[in-house]
Amino acid sequence: MFFVAFLGIYPVNRTPTLTVLISGRGSNLIALHERASNYRIGLVISSNSAAQGLVWAAQAGVPSQVVERGTFPSLAAFKAGVLDAVLRSQPDVVALAGFMVVLQPEFSEAFGGRLINIHPSLLPRLPGLDTHQRAIASGETEHGCTVHFVDSGVDTGPRIAQGVVPVLPGDDAAALAARTLAVEHSLYPWVTASLVRGGVQLAEGRVRYDAQAVREAHERGFRIFV
Ligand code: GRF
Repeated sequence: MFFVAFLGIYPVNRTPTLTVLISGRGSNLIALHERASNYRIGLVISSNSAAQGLVWAAQAGVPSQVVERGTFPSLAAFKAGVLDAVLRSQPDVVALAGFMVVLQPEFSEAFGGRLINIHPSLLPRLPGLDTHQRAIASGETEHGCTVHFVDSGVDTGPRIAQGVVPVLPGDDAAALAARTLAVEHSLYPWVTASLVRGGVQLAEGRVRYDAQAVREAHERGFRIFV
């Protein structure tokens, strides 16, 4: 019933928009754009003016905005600036894609159920940084990525779906990262499209899936949490 919730705010025929927050390379941003079926990217916000993803956005004609720590007097003011920029973009969904800033609780309060992140591990295993190297070092046999709703913690919100890859003998962090990233690029657009059409919802802290989402996750080999 995602659309129903917004009928009072947006024109009925308007394509739902995504604001994507990045800090660097932007390969998930590109995947979200190229695989967009029922949404479009309205704005890219980068915390880093040198982010490669900004170069792509300019070439692709996707609007972008830089909100950098250095132009604010304090960390709190910077984070408030990020929130303000996102609010002004009036997104239907906010997607964090390699955004290297820990958001304040006001963020998840403002966008509860519409704020998602992709993390390169099978959460709750391996939150934080250097996940591929840590997966190898701890002898994991499977690894992957998770798309989850963002709450006030770091990599802790309710999980929506995971893409699983094997850890193969002889893998180094780069090989495992590349294998994982390929799955990220199909997982994130699918979750986003499912959320936009209302097939995935956050209700009372739990993720709910409709029958189509369950079927599609199965077909694509994604792990969900029914
Ligand atoms: C991805 O591995 C994503 O899972 C993590 O940060 C990385 C961003 O890569 N949150 P990119 O900027 O999307 O290429």
